[in-house]
Amino acid sequence: MSLRINDIAPDFTADTTQGPISFHEWIGSGWAVLFSHPKNFTPVCTTELGAMAGLAAEFSKRGAKVIGISVDPVESHAKWKNDIKTATGFDVEYPLIGDKDLKVAKLYDMLPAGAGESSEGRTPADNATVRSVFIIGPDKKIKLILTYPMTTGRNFNEILRAIDSIQLTAKHQVATPANWNQGEDVIITAAVSNEDAITRFGSFDTVLPYLRKTKQPTA
Ligand code: BEZ
Repeated sequence: MSLRINDIAPDFTADTTQGPISFHEWIGSGWAVLFSHPKNFTPVCTTELGAMAGLAAEFSKRGAKVIGISVDPVESHAKWKNDIKTATGFDVEYPLIGDKDLKVAKLYDMLPAGAGESSEGRTPADNATVRSVFIIGPDKKIKLILTYPMTTGRNFNEILRAIDSIQLTAKHQVATPANWNQGEDVIITAAVSNEDAITRFGSFDTVLPYLRKTKQPTA
């Protein structure tokens, strides 16, 4: 059965560009972003890993560690990092998992339908990992899952935006509306009565009886 939001992110051991890791231990007490790419030395992936590297400080500000994964070996990742720097100007300082035997890819359901059993003789179309993203909380539970096709590069600012929303809504009884960004008005959840909303948020607007908006709580 595939992984779902609120499942415990499966633990695993793996080789990475920064040595062997035990995933839960590596996450520690903070947040984590595990993201897969199909194949090293390919154009979209090169731009993606550079974009993620360029946002390293933003992820760190949010207490989120980043780790990449593909079924390419660690030695290939190490060589490819030079191309990523050349193409995007960014050094990949986060670890990259070399998942040659597809162990993690299978555990996290990162392979497209019809994928083969090993990385031998693979083509990008069969047993390469798709573009998956898992946001994992300090409780080791999966908070978000995204899957993009091979030909569509991800918007890594969206991952940051989602972390902002997930961290805010874990702390306050609010949800965030479509296209919300940090600092913008939020939605008061249905569990909060109008009376309680005044106590918690000071004031709010009733757009519809079930859609009440208030300023983003700051504390
Ligand atoms: C790419 O990164 O450009 C790519 C990788 C695998 C399949 C298709 C495109």
